[in-house]
Amino acid sequence: MSDPFSAFPRFPLAHLPTPLGEMKRLRAALGPACPPLFIKRDDCTGLAGGGNKTRKLEFLIGEAIAEGCDTIVTTGALQSNHARQTAAAANAAGLRATLVLMDMVPYEGGAYRRSGNRLLDDILGADVKIIPPGADAGAFFKQTMAEIEAGGRKAYFTPAGGSTVTGSLGYAAAYVEIADELAARGLAGARLVHASSSGGTQAGLVAGRALRPGGPAVHGINVYRLDADKMEADIGKLAATTAERLGVATPPADAIVLEHGFVGPRYGVPTPEMIEAVELVARTEGILLDPVYTGKGMAGFLSLIRRGDFAQDGALVFLHTGGMPGLFAYEGEFLRKI
Ligand SMILES: Cc1ncc(COP(=O)(O)O)c(C=O)c1O
Repeated sequence: MSDPFSAFPRFPLAHLPTPLGEMKRLRAALGPACPPLFIKRDDCTGLAGGGNKTRKLEFLIGEAIAEGCDTIVTTGALQSNHARQTAAAANAAGLRATLVLMDMVPYEGGAYRRSGNRLLDDILGADVKIIPPGADAGAFFKQTMAEIEAGGRKAYFTPAGGSTVTGSLGYAAAYVEIADELAARGLAGARLVHASSSGGTQAGLVAGRALRPGGPAVHGINVYRLDADKMEADIGKLAATTAERLGVATPPADAIVLEHGFVGPRYGVPTPEMIEAVELVARTEGILLDPVYTGKGMAGFLSLIRRGDFAQDGALVFLHTGGMPGLFAYEGEFLRKI
């Protein structure tokens, strides 16, 4: 069968395939009813700290280069992993990166404004612009784009999380990688669970299932949005347009499965369940999650396991989507002794 992804411009950035490990000690800590647990290490994609955005950026940077652009513009929160990965990807491709960051998370603890991803953005040499409080974000973007063009450069804009159809192709390709690995290890019936936010990861995985119909069911844990119904509809639309781009069947409406109780008061604001999940996985498996995405995603995963929701599902695979630099921004939540 020909490679369905070869039709799209792609700039190689990720170390693939990422490892697929077993979490025997976490399973033991969860008791005898816990199904076999695995972890797909997309935190190990290799680009400046790794994470899920690397797979999306292979296609986004590929498209930017194909369109003759020399500057990538993106946006996100001050601790955006996507922004940090975009800065690194642009460097690797010989492009420039402008990061328009939003001071949108009501979190004052730790080193939120000066460490973690924000620090790495500066080390990577990105042009960082922070939207001033109360400013009109739309006007700020327009001005940024105009400045880039006035400087004789051509900008490629990618929204928060890189969650466009082009970015989602990265996770449709990831789905094929994961489904093939699981099948080779006799785990075809496993369920794949991951943190879902701007939706490109989930949309891509769900669209990719048409290429491997016997592959794992996809289960997102919402770590971002407070409008549950709209989130499902938006991810469904993105999955449909991604499938269309790939020339495969539109995913059925019930393919978007999202669990909603784990955002806490707001995106980026720590929860006790997130802290428990980060510490438990670190202390049983030696694997570091992050406070904003995979920590809350794992909190949801653990809660569903403890509730017995997955009892009939066979093996479970947690997709580790990265974000570890964020731990340093939230040091106050984790530091026990000074
Ligand atoms: C570490 C991490 N995990 C998960 C996600 C969620 O991915 P998506 O935005 O594609 O839903 C993100 C998005 O920023 C992330 O940085």
